[in-house]
Amino acid sequence: MIRMAIVGTGGMAHRHAEEYSRIEGVELVAACDVREDVAQAFAEKHRIPNVFTEVEALLDFGAFDAVSNVTPDRFHSVTTLPLLQAGKHVLCEKPLAENHADALRMAEAAQAAGVVHLVNFSYRNASAIHKAYELVQSGQLGTVMHVEASYLQSWLVSKAWGDWKTEDKWLWRLSTQHGSKGTLGDIGVHILDFATYPVGPIEELSCSLKTFPEVKGTQIGEYPLDANDSMVISARFANGALGAIHATRWATGHHNTVALRIFGSQGSLRINLDQSLTSLEWCTGENIDSGTWESLDCGATPNMYQRFITSIQTGVSDQPDFFRGAEIQKLLDDCERFA
Ligand SMILES: NC(=O)c1ccc[n+]([C@@H]2O[C@H](COP(=O)([O-])OP(=O)(O)OC[C@H]3O[C@@H](n4cnc5c(N)ncnc54)[C@H](O)[C@@H]3O)[C@@H](O)[C@H]2O)c1
Repeated sequence: MIRMAIVGTGGMAHRHAEEYSRIEGVELVAACDVREDVAQAFAEKHRIPNVFTEVEALLDFGAFDAVSNVTPDRFHSVTTLPLLQAGKHVLCEKPLAENHADALRMAEAAQAAGVVHLVNFSYRNASAIHKAYELVQSGQLGTVMHVEASYLQSWLVSKAWGDWKTEDKWLWRLSTQHGSKGTLGDIGVHILDFATYPVGPIEELSCSLKTFPEVKGTQIGEYPLDANDSMVISARFANGALGAIHATRWATGHHNTVALRIFGSQGSLRINLDQSLTSLEWCTGENIDSGTWESLDCGATPNMYQRFITSIQTGVSDQPDFFRGAEIQKLLDDCERFA
């Protein structure tokens, strides 16, 4: 049995608990949140026997093997480091840290501790992106010339996911003082992983970030609303391709649309996760002249929670690990520096 603790028991933690409860050989043993009532309610819902309000107390308890860290971004590093030092395996939410130096420190600490360390780039759960990796890396699209990737949300415009003006879980995402890198850190991080996983690293980029005024006075309660809510990146990949990568929270009509198009000298592929997680379309060979796109079934892939547990069980670490998290964090730093 792998004994799991969940640190940070807000919105996303429910997904973690539900996924672990579906995996054989995993037992949820502890919930930890600085808000005791939230942790208690979470523990009751998921039938977790032990509740703590700080990581130190969780570590004193000690009877667990692995942790999902689902705290807000600015707490990832400070809460993960002591867990690693205690020899616990960690699946940490994205972005891994607040900056590249902290992310690298986490990766090195995890490596030194000899534990499994994964970062929850959850769009790796789509088998389509693994098929894209395979097609690009095996050269089936020829030389990649051009890449277009986008992540579109609309929660600043719609109430599809609740009212951002009244809920802490949305307000901290709009405030740099509360450790948010805005759209860049929240969903830009996903689309950067999504684009660079199949195509390879970005060598050079420029970036525009914009914060549109969400409310008059640009402050709600303790939250100054200053984090960017739209980003556009122009990228040069190490393999020579050019890329346009963008994300926004103002995309009316799109709740959560992740899309990628890769154009090569011998073919192209396109993924739209609104349409399918497990298939992509490609245009290659005799279809190139007519511009016909064919659908390609991409099969199934284990999700991040399964990857984490399997890595612990087999002792063979999967990807994306903390070093990958740090690599993407470097791009976030670059985007902020050049914006
Ligand atoms: N991978 C994904 O697709 C995905 C989706 C949603 C959120 N996330 C990430 O998950 C994390 C949490 O997001 P959320 O939407 O659940 O936020 P949330 O605000 O709903 O929940 C965070 C919880 O952490 C608790 N917390 C804060 N500091 C803590 C500490 N030091 N120790 C223990 N608990 C602490 C808060 O009280 C809160 O209950 C963020 O990093 C976010 O980027 C990832």
